[in-house]
Amino acid sequence: MYLSLLVILSLLLAISLMKFAYSILWVPYKIQAHFQKQGIRGPGYRPMFGNVAEMRRLTAVPQSRRMSLFDHNIVHRVLPFHHRWSCDYGETLLYWFGTTPKLAIAEAGLIKEILMDTSGLFEKAGIEPIAKQLLGDGLAALTGEKWALHRRITSLALNMKQVKMNKERWRVEKEIRASIRELIETNSRIGENSTNLLSLLTCPHKNRDGKDEKLEVEEVVDECMTFYFAGKETSANTLTWALLLLSMHQDWQIKASEEVVRVCREKELPTADMLGELKIISMILNETLRLYTPVVGLTRQARKDIKLGKLEIPAGTELFLALSKAHRDTGIWGVDADDFNPQRFIEARKQSAMFFPWSLGPRICVGQSLAMAEMKIVLTMIIRQFSFVVSPTYVHAPINFLTVLPQYGAPILFRKVSN
Ligand code: HEM
Repeated sequence: MYLSLLVILSLLLAISLMKFAYSILWVPYKIQAHFQKQGIRGPGYRPMFGNVAEMRRLTAVPQSRRMSLFDHNIVHRVLPFHHRWSCDYGETLLYWFGTTPKLAIAEAGLIKEILMDTSGLFEKAGIEPIAKQLLGDGLAALTGEKWALHRRITSLALNMKQVKMNKERWRVEKEIRASIRELIETNSRIGENSTNLLSLLTCPHKNRDGKDEKLEVEEVVDECMTFYFAGKETSANTLTWALLLLSMHQDWQIKASEEVVRVCREKELPTADMLGELKIISMILNETLRLYTPVVGLTRQARKDIKLGKLEIPAGTELFLALSKAHRDTGIWGVDADDFNPQRFIEARKQSAMFFPWSLGPRICVGQSLAMAEMKIVLTMIIRQFSFVVSPTYVHAPINFLTVLPQYGAPILFRKVSN
C-alpha cells in the first residue's frame, strides 16, 4: 500500500519536473534555435530569468554618464539595453524577459505593418504593473470587446470640439477613485453642463446598430485615471523638451516668436482658427516628438504563428517596437537624423508614415488632437510673453521613466518680452 503510494507520488513528481523542464528549458531553447536559423541573434536565454539581470545592469550604466548639451541622440539612455544589444547583434534581436521571448524591432516599415494590423494578430501585450496602477483598467490596458466599447465612447468624447478637461490631483489609488466618483456624481447633478468630458463619457451613445451603449461609473473612473496619466505626463514632458530645445536653438525660438506675433496679433490666447495657422509651432512640436518621443517603445504579442516580412514568428512572442530608434533611421530622416531640425516637417512627406509618437492603426493615441491643441496653446502663450535660455545649471540627461523626462529637471531662465 505504502509502496504504491510512494510510486504514484514519485511519478507525479517526475511528471511535474518534466513539465517544468519543458517550459523553462525545452521551449525557450527551441524558440531561440528557431530564430537563430533565421539569422536573429541576441544575448542568449538564461534559464528561468532570461536577461533580466543584464537589463538592470545595462540600464544603470548610461545614467551615470553625462551628455553634451546639443546631443540629441538619446537612444543609449532611453533604450539602454536595446542600444547595447543592437550594437552586438543587429537591429532586430531576440532577448528574454524570464521565459517570454522578446523580439526587438527598430525597422520603421515592420513597425508600421505591426501597428496597422487590424486582424488582431498582434494584440497589445500586458502593461507593466506600475503603469497599470497609474492607468487603472482604462483604454490603454484593455483588449478585445471591452476595449472596442471604451474606444468608441472615449473617441467620441475626446473628439468633441468643446472638451474641457477636469483634472484632479491624486496620490493613492483609493483617493483617486473616490475623488473621481465624487466628481461624476456632482457633474451628473449639474445637468445643464452637458458638454464637458465627464458628461460625454457618462452619457449614452448610439452605436452603429442604433443601440445605446454606456460606460458604468467604475469604468468612467478607470478612463479618467488613464486620461490623467496617459495625457498629463506625455504632454507635460513634451512641452518641457520643446522649451529646452528652443532654449538651446535660439534661431527656432526667434522663428516661433515671429509666427506667434504674426498669427495671434494682440490676442493673448490663440483661437481655434489660429491654431491651424501656427505652422512653425507644429513643426517644432513634431520635431520634439520625434527626438524625445515620450513613449520610447510599444509592446505587442503575436497571437498565432505569424509571417512578418521574411520573419517567421511563433505565437506568444512579444514584439518590442523601438520607436525612439526608428525615429533616427537615417534612411528615412536623412544624415542629420540626430539633429534638431523642425524644417523637415514643413510639408507632409512620405516619412510622416514612419513617424510614430502617437502609435498608428487601431490603437493610435485617442488623445492626439487634444494633446496637440493643448501643447500648441501653452507653447504659444509662453513664447508670446517670454524669451528664454537654458540655465547654466542644466544637465542634459534624458531618462525613460514610463515617459522620457530630464533626469535632473529643466532649469530655464525666462525674460519677459515687451509686447
Ligand atoms: C504628447 C502627448 C501624448 C503622446 C506622445 C501619446 C502617445 C500615445 C501612444 C504612443 C499610445 C499608444 C500606446 C500603445 O499602442 O501601446 C497612446 C495611447 C493612448 N493615449 Fe496617448 N499620448 C499623448 C497624449 C494623450 C492625451 C492628452 C490623452 C487623453 C486625454 C491620451 C490618452 C491615450 C489613451 C486613452 C490611449 C490608449 C488608446 C487605446 O489603447 O486604444 N494620450 N498615446
